Amino acid sequence: MSGEETLAATARALVTAGKGLLAADESFPTIGKRFKALDIPSTEENREAYREMLFTTPGLSDFISGVILFDETLRQRTKDGVPLPELLAKQNIIPGIKVDLGAIPLPNFPGEKFTQGLDGLRERLSEYRELGARFTKWRAVIAIGDGLPTAACIEANGHSLALFAALSQEAGLVPIVEPEVLMDGKHTIARCEEVTRGTLECVFYELFNQRVALEGMLLKTGMVVSGKDCAQQAGAEEVAEATVRCLRRAVPATVPGIVFLSGGQSDIAATERLNAICRVPGLPWALSFSFGRALQDAALQTWHGSAANAVAAQAALHHRARCNSLAVQGKYSEQAEHET
Ligand code: 13P
Repeated sequence: MSGEETLAATARALVTAGKGLLAADESFPTIGKRFKALDIPSTEENREAYREMLFTTPGLSDFISGVILFDETLRQRTKDGVPLPELLAKQNIIPGIKVDLGAIPLPNFPGEKFTQGLDGLRERLSEYRELGARFTKWRAVIAIGDGLPTAACIEANGHSLALFAALSQEAGLVPIVEPEVLMDGKHTIARCEEVTRGTLECVFYELFNQRVALEGMLLKTGMVVSGKDCAQQAGAEEVAEATVRCLRRAVPATVPGIVFLSGGQSDIAATERLNAICRVPGLPWALSFSFGRALQDAALQTWHGSAANAVAAQAALHHRARCNSLAVQGKYSEQAEHET
Protein backbone atom coordinates (compact mmCIF):
# COMPACT_ATOMS: atom_id res chain seq x y z
CA MET A 1 0.00 0.00 0.00
CA SER A 2 1.20 3.52 -0.73
CA GLY A 3 1.45 6.02 2.13
CA GLU A 4 -1.78 7.65 1.01
CA GLU A 5 -3.59 4.32 0.86
CA THR A 6 -2.40 3.41 4.36
CA LEU A 7 -3.68 6.73 5.71
CA ALA A 8 -7.04 6.23 4.02
CA ALA A 9 -7.31 2.67 5.37
CA THR A 10 -6.56 3.83 8.92
CA ALA A 11 -9.09 6.68 8.62
CA ARG A 12 -11.76 4.22 7.46
CA ALA A 13 -10.85 1.74 10.22
CA LEU A 14 -11.45 4.45 12.83
CA VAL A 15 -15.03 4.86 11.61
CA THR A 16 -15.76 1.14 11.17
CA ALA A 17 -19.51 0.57 11.34
CA GLY A 18 -20.80 0.57 14.90
CA LYS A 19 -17.54 1.77 16.46
CA GLY A 20 -16.23 5.13 17.63
CA LEU A 21 -13.40 6.81 19.49
CA LEU A 22 -12.71 7.21 23.18
CA ALA A 23 -11.10 10.60 23.80
CA ALA A 24 -8.85 10.04 26.84
CA ASP A 25 -6.39 12.79 25.96
CA GLU A 26 -7.03 15.21 28.82
CA SER A 27 -4.02 17.48 29.33
CA PHE A 28 -2.55 17.94 32.84
CA PRO A 29 -4.84 20.90 33.67
CA THR A 30 -7.96 19.14 32.33
CA ILE A 31 -7.45 15.77 34.05
CA GLY A 32 -6.51 17.74 37.17
CA LYS A 33 -9.87 19.51 37.03
CA ARG A 34 -11.81 16.27 36.51
CA PHE A 35 -9.95 14.50 39.36
CA LYS A 36 -10.22 17.49 41.71
CA ALA A 37 -14.00 17.52 41.41
CA LEU A 38 -13.89 14.03 42.99
CA ASP A 39 -11.00 14.73 45.41
CA ILE A 40 -8.66 12.39 43.51
CA PRO A 41 -5.04 13.63 43.62
CA SER A 42 -3.71 14.12 40.07
CA THR A 43 -0.50 12.10 40.47
CA GLU A 44 1.23 10.28 37.64
CA GLU A 45 0.33 6.98 39.33
CA ASN A 46 -3.38 7.84 39.57
CA ARG A 47 -3.51 9.04 35.99
CA GLU A 48 -1.95 5.76 34.83
CA ALA A 49 -4.22 3.65 37.04
CA TYR A 50 -7.30 5.47 35.71
CA ARG A 51 -6.37 5.11 32.05
CA GLU A 52 -5.28 1.47 32.54
CA MET A 53 -8.65 0.76 34.16
CA LEU A 54 -10.45 2.30 31.14
CA PHE A 55 -8.32 0.49 28.55
CA THR A 56 -8.66 -2.96 30.15
CA THR A 57 -12.47 -2.85 30.11
CA PRO A 58 -13.55 -6.30 28.88
CA GLY A 59 -15.21 -6.09 25.46
CA LEU A 60 -14.24 -2.44 24.87
CA SER A 61 -13.08 -3.18 21.32
CA ASP A 62 -16.62 -4.27 20.37
CA PHE A 63 -17.54 -0.57 20.40
CA ILE A 64 -14.27 1.39 20.35
CA SER A 65 -12.03 1.56 17.26
CA GLY A 66 -9.45 3.99 18.59
CA VAL A 67 -8.36 5.87 21.71
CA ILE A 68 -6.91 9.38 21.76
CA LEU A 69 -4.07 9.57 24.29
CA PHE A 70 -2.14 12.41 25.90
CA ASP A 71 1.67 12.66 25.58
CA GLU A 72 2.22 11.30 29.10
CA THR A 73 -0.15 8.35 28.57
CA LEU A 74 1.47 7.30 25.27
CA ARG A 75 4.72 6.81 27.25
CA GLN A 76 3.21 5.03 30.27
CA ARG A 77 3.14 1.30 31.03
CA THR A 78 0.64 -0.86 32.87
CA LYS A 79 1.47 -2.17 36.32
CA ASP A 80 2.70 -5.30 34.51
CA GLY A 81 5.02 -3.27 32.30
CA VAL A 82 3.06 -3.23 29.01
CA PRO A 83 3.21 0.12 27.17
CA LEU A 84 -0.34 1.55 27.06
CA PRO A 85 -0.36 1.97 23.25
CA GLU A 86 0.61 -1.71 22.95
CA LEU A 87 -2.16 -2.70 25.39
CA LEU A 88 -4.65 -1.02 23.04
CA ALA A 89 -3.15 -2.30 19.78
CA LYS A 90 -3.29 -5.88 21.10
CA GLN A 91 -7.07 -5.48 21.41
CA ASN A 92 -7.31 -4.15 17.87
CA ILE A 93 -7.89 -0.61 19.18
CA ILE A 94 -5.88 2.00 17.28
CA PRO A 95 -3.81 4.34 19.50
CA GLY A 96 -3.81 8.05 18.66
CA ILE A 97 -2.36 11.15 20.24
CA LYS A 98 -3.42 14.73 20.88
CA VAL A 99 -0.57 16.84 19.54
CA ASP A 100 -1.66 20.43 20.10
CA LEU A 101 -0.30 22.25 23.14
CA GLY A 102 -3.53 23.96 24.15
CA ALA A 103 -5.36 27.18 23.35
CA ILE A 104 -4.05 30.56 24.52
CA PRO A 105 -5.52 34.09 24.20
CA LEU A 106 -5.43 35.52 20.67
CA PRO A 107 -3.66 38.89 20.81
CA ASN A 108 -5.91 41.87 19.89
CA PHE A 109 -9.08 39.74 20.08
CA PRO A 110 -10.44 39.65 23.63
CA GLY A 111 -12.41 36.49 24.39
CA GLU A 112 -10.86 34.49 21.56
CA LYS A 113 -8.11 31.88 21.51
CA PHE A 114 -5.70 30.21 19.15
CA THR A 115 -4.11 26.81 19.52
CA GLN A 116 -0.35 26.46 19.82
CA GLY A 117 1.99 23.58 19.09
CA LEU A 118 3.33 23.85 15.51
CA ASP A 119 6.96 24.56 16.52
CA GLY A 120 8.87 21.28 16.65
CA LEU A 121 5.76 19.35 15.63
CA ARG A 122 7.51 17.47 12.80
CA GLU A 123 10.00 15.97 15.29
CA ARG A 124 7.31 15.15 17.86
CA LEU A 125 5.20 13.41 15.22
CA SER A 126 7.99 11.08 14.17
CA GLU A 127 8.57 10.17 17.83
CA TYR A 128 4.84 9.57 18.37
CA ARG A 129 4.78 7.21 15.41
CA GLU A 130 7.72 5.29 16.87
CA LEU A 131 5.79 5.02 20.15
CA GLY A 132 2.85 3.40 18.32
CA ALA A 133 0.46 6.24 17.47
CA ARG A 134 -1.35 5.90 14.14
CA PHE A 135 -3.46 9.05 14.24
CA THR A 136 -3.34 12.53 15.74
CA LYS A 137 -5.73 15.21 16.98
CA TRP A 138 -5.52 19.01 17.10
CA ARG A 139 -8.32 21.00 18.75
CA ALA A 140 -9.12 24.63 18.03
CA VAL A 141 -11.82 26.46 20.00
CA ILE A 142 -14.24 28.99 18.55
CA ALA A 143 -16.34 30.96 21.02
CA ILE A 144 -19.74 32.45 20.19
CA GLY A 145 -20.59 35.79 21.81
CA ASP A 146 -21.20 39.48 21.20
CA GLY A 147 -19.38 40.09 17.90
CA LEU A 148 -17.68 36.69 18.22
CA PRO A 149 -16.25 34.79 16.53
CA THR A 150 -14.17 37.14 14.39
CA ALA A 151 -12.86 36.16 10.96
CA ALA A 152 -9.33 36.68 12.32
CA CYS A 153 -9.84 33.99 14.96
CA ILE A 154 -11.37 31.49 12.56
CA GLU A 155 -8.63 32.07 9.97
CA ALA A 156 -5.74 31.81 12.46
CA ASN A 157 -7.11 28.54 13.79
CA GLY A 158 -8.02 27.19 10.36
CA HIS A 159 -4.49 27.83 9.12
CA SER A 160 -2.89 26.02 12.07
CA LEU A 161 -5.30 23.09 11.73
CA ALA A 162 -4.32 22.70 8.07
CA LEU A 163 -0.57 22.83 8.80
CA PHE A 164 -1.06 20.28 11.58
CA ALA A 165 -2.98 18.02 9.19
CA ALA A 166 -0.32 18.28 6.46
CA LEU A 167 2.51 17.55 8.92
CA SER A 168 0.61 14.56 10.33
CA GLN A 169 0.07 13.04 6.91
CA GLU A 170 3.74 13.61 6.09
CA ALA A 171 4.57 11.53 9.20
CA GLY A 172 2.15 8.76 8.17
CA LEU A 173 -0.42 9.70 10.83
CA VAL A 174 -4.14 10.31 10.17
CA PRO A 175 -5.06 13.81 11.38
CA ILE A 176 -8.31 14.38 13.23
CA VAL A 177 -9.05 18.02 12.50
CA GLU A 178 -11.13 19.45 15.36
CA PRO A 179 -12.50 22.99 15.20
CA GLU A 180 -14.80 23.01 18.25
CA VAL A 181 -17.53 25.65 18.32
CA LEU A 182 -18.17 26.04 22.05
CA MET A 183 -21.63 25.52 23.54
CA ASP A 184 -21.17 28.30 26.15
CA GLY A 185 -23.57 31.22 25.80
CA LYS A 186 -27.18 32.18 25.24
CA HIS A 187 -27.10 31.86 21.46
CA THR A 188 -29.74 30.00 19.49
CA ILE A 189 -29.24 26.79 17.52
CA ALA A 190 -29.51 28.88 14.32
CA ARG A 191 -26.51 30.96 15.43
CA CYS A 192 -24.56 27.78 16.26
CA GLU A 193 -25.32 26.46 12.77
CA GLU A 194 -24.18 29.68 11.12
CA VAL A 195 -20.90 29.76 13.07
CA THR A 196 -20.21 26.04 12.60
CA ARG A 197 -20.79 26.32 8.86
CA GLY A 198 -18.55 29.40 8.51
CA THR A 199 -15.83 27.72 10.55
CA LEU A 200 -15.94 24.50 8.51
CA GLU A 201 -15.87 26.41 5.21
CA CYS A 202 -12.73 28.23 6.32
CA VAL A 203 -11.09 25.05 7.66
CA PHE A 204 -11.65 23.16 4.38
CA TYR A 205 -10.37 26.13 2.35
CA GLU A 206 -7.18 26.01 4.43
CA LEU A 207 -6.94 22.21 4.10
CA PHE A 208 -7.16 22.50 0.30
CA ASN A 209 -4.49 25.22 0.35
CA GLN A 210 -2.07 23.00 2.27
CA ARG A 211 -2.82 20.07 -0.09
CA VAL A 212 -4.12 17.82 2.65
CA ALA A 213 -5.48 14.51 1.28
CA LEU A 214 -9.08 14.51 2.46
CA GLU A 215 -9.30 10.70 2.10
CA GLY A 216 -6.67 10.37 4.81
CA MET A 217 -8.20 12.56 7.52
CA LEU A 218 -11.25 12.74 9.80
CA LEU A 219 -13.24 15.78 10.89
CA LYS A 220 -14.15 16.12 14.56
CA THR A 221 -16.88 18.65 15.20
CA GLY A 222 -19.55 19.57 17.67
CA MET A 223 -23.20 18.82 17.01
CA VAL A 224 -25.23 21.89 16.06
CA VAL A 225 -27.03 22.66 19.34
CA SER A 226 -28.59 25.54 21.28
CA GLY A 227 -26.19 27.54 23.47
CA LYS A 228 -25.95 26.13 27.01
CA ASP A 229 -27.81 29.14 28.46
CA CYS A 230 -30.32 29.63 25.63
CA ALA A 231 -33.90 29.64 26.96
CA GLN A 232 -35.08 27.58 23.97
CA GLN A 233 -33.30 24.19 23.97
CA ALA A 234 -33.59 22.32 20.67
CA GLY A 235 -34.59 18.65 20.91
CA ALA A 236 -32.75 15.72 19.33
CA GLU A 237 -34.66 15.85 16.02
CA GLU A 238 -33.98 19.55 15.53
CA VAL A 239 -30.31 19.04 16.43
CA ALA A 240 -30.07 16.24 13.87
CA GLU A 241 -31.70 18.30 11.13
CA ALA A 242 -29.47 21.35 11.71
CA THR A 243 -26.30 19.28 12.12
CA VAL A 244 -26.83 17.29 8.93
CA ARG A 245 -27.78 20.39 6.90
CA CYS A 246 -24.69 22.21 8.12
CA LEU A 247 -22.33 19.30 7.40
CA ARG A 248 -23.83 18.71 3.95
CA ARG A 249 -23.19 22.32 3.03
CA ALA A 250 -19.65 22.56 4.34
CA VAL A 251 -17.93 19.14 4.37
CA PRO A 252 -16.66 17.59 1.11
CA ALA A 253 -17.96 14.08 0.42
CA THR A 254 -14.36 12.84 0.04
CA VAL A 255 -13.83 13.04 3.81
CA PRO A 256 -14.27 9.42 4.97
CA GLY A 257 -15.70 10.18 8.38
CA ILE A 258 -17.00 12.78 10.78
CA VAL A 259 -16.82 12.15 14.53
CA PHE A 260 -18.62 14.21 17.14
CA LEU A 261 -17.27 15.56 20.40
CA SER A 262 -19.64 15.74 23.37
CA GLY A 263 -18.62 19.25 24.44
CA GLY A 264 -20.34 19.31 27.83
CA GLN A 265 -23.68 17.73 26.92
CA SER A 266 -24.88 15.15 29.43
CA ASP A 267 -23.92 11.62 28.45
CA ILE A 268 -27.50 10.56 27.70
CA ALA A 269 -28.30 13.72 25.70
CA ALA A 270 -25.15 13.18 23.61
CA THR A 271 -26.22 9.59 22.85
CA GLU A 272 -29.81 10.57 22.00
CA ARG A 273 -28.68 13.29 19.62
CA LEU A 274 -26.05 11.06 18.03
CA ASN A 275 -28.75 8.47 17.42
CA ALA A 276 -31.03 11.04 15.76
CA ILE A 277 -28.19 12.30 13.54
CA CYS A 278 -27.14 8.78 12.50
CA ARG A 279 -30.70 7.86 11.53
CA VAL A 280 -30.62 10.38 8.67
CA PRO A 281 -30.20 8.31 5.48
CA GLY A 282 -28.02 8.91 2.45
CA LEU A 283 -25.04 10.78 3.94
CA PRO A 284 -21.71 10.60 2.08
CA TRP A 285 -19.48 10.16 5.18
CA ALA A 286 -19.41 7.62 7.99
CA LEU A 287 -20.56 9.28 11.20
CA SER A 288 -19.47 8.32 14.70
CA PHE A 289 -18.52 9.57 18.15
CA SER A 290 -15.25 10.72 19.67
CA PHE A 291 -16.48 11.49 23.15
CA GLY A 292 -14.45 12.39 26.19
CA ARG A 293 -16.78 13.37 29.02
CA ALA A 294 -19.89 11.64 27.59
CA LEU A 295 -18.03 8.30 27.66
CA GLN A 296 -16.02 8.78 30.83
CA ASP A 297 -18.15 10.74 33.31
CA ALA A 298 -20.01 7.77 34.85
CA ALA A 299 -16.88 5.58 34.83
CA LEU A 300 -14.74 8.24 36.51
CA GLN A 301 -17.34 8.91 39.20
CA THR A 302 -17.69 5.20 39.88
CA TRP A 303 -13.93 4.59 39.97
CA HIS A 304 -13.33 7.54 42.31
CA GLY A 305 -9.61 6.81 42.60
CA SER A 306 -10.03 3.34 44.11
CA ALA A 307 -8.97 0.02 42.57
CA ALA A 308 -11.82 -1.62 44.50
CA ASN A 309 -14.29 0.17 42.17
CA ALA A 310 -12.55 -0.76 38.92
CA VAL A 311 -14.94 -3.52 37.85
CA ALA A 312 -18.02 -1.33 38.40
CA ALA A 313 -16.32 1.60 36.62
CA GLN A 314 -15.50 -0.62 33.65
CA ALA A 315 -19.14 -1.74 33.54
CA ALA A 316 -20.17 1.95 33.39
CA LEU A 317 -17.79 2.63 30.49
CA HIS A 318 -18.89 -0.55 28.70
CA HIS A 319 -22.54 0.51 29.01
CA ARG A 320 -21.96 4.02 27.59
CA ALA A 321 -19.76 2.70 24.80
CA ARG A 322 -22.45 0.15 23.90
CA CYS A 323 -25.21 2.79 23.91
CA ASN A 324 -23.14 5.02 21.63
CA SER A 325 -22.38 2.09 19.35
CA LEU A 326 -26.11 1.48 19.05
CA ALA A 327 -26.65 5.21 18.40
CA VAL A 328 -24.15 5.19 15.52
CA GLN A 329 -26.33 2.49 13.96
CA GLY A 330 -29.50 4.48 14.74
CA LYS A 331 -30.61 1.69 17.09
CA TYR A 332 -30.37 3.36 20.49
CA SER A 333 -33.49 3.39 22.66
CA GLU A 334 -34.61 4.07 26.19
CA GLN A 335 -34.76 0.33 26.67
CA ALA A 336 -31.11 -0.02 25.64
CA GLU A 337 -30.24 2.72 28.14
CA HIS A 338 -31.73 0.64 30.95
CA GLU A 339 -30.18 -2.67 29.93
CA THR A 340 -27.17 -3.62 32.01
P1 13P B 1 -15.61 15.98 25.02
O1 13P B 1 -16.39 14.88 24.37
O2 13P B 1 -15.56 15.88 26.52
O3 13P B 1 -16.00 17.33 24.52
O4 13P B 1 -14.09 15.78 24.60
C1 13P B 1 -13.79 15.44 23.31
C2 13P B 1 -12.47 15.97 22.92
O5 13P B 1 -11.58 15.22 22.58
C3 13P B 1 -12.26 17.42 22.92
O6 13P B 1 -11.07 17.71 22.27
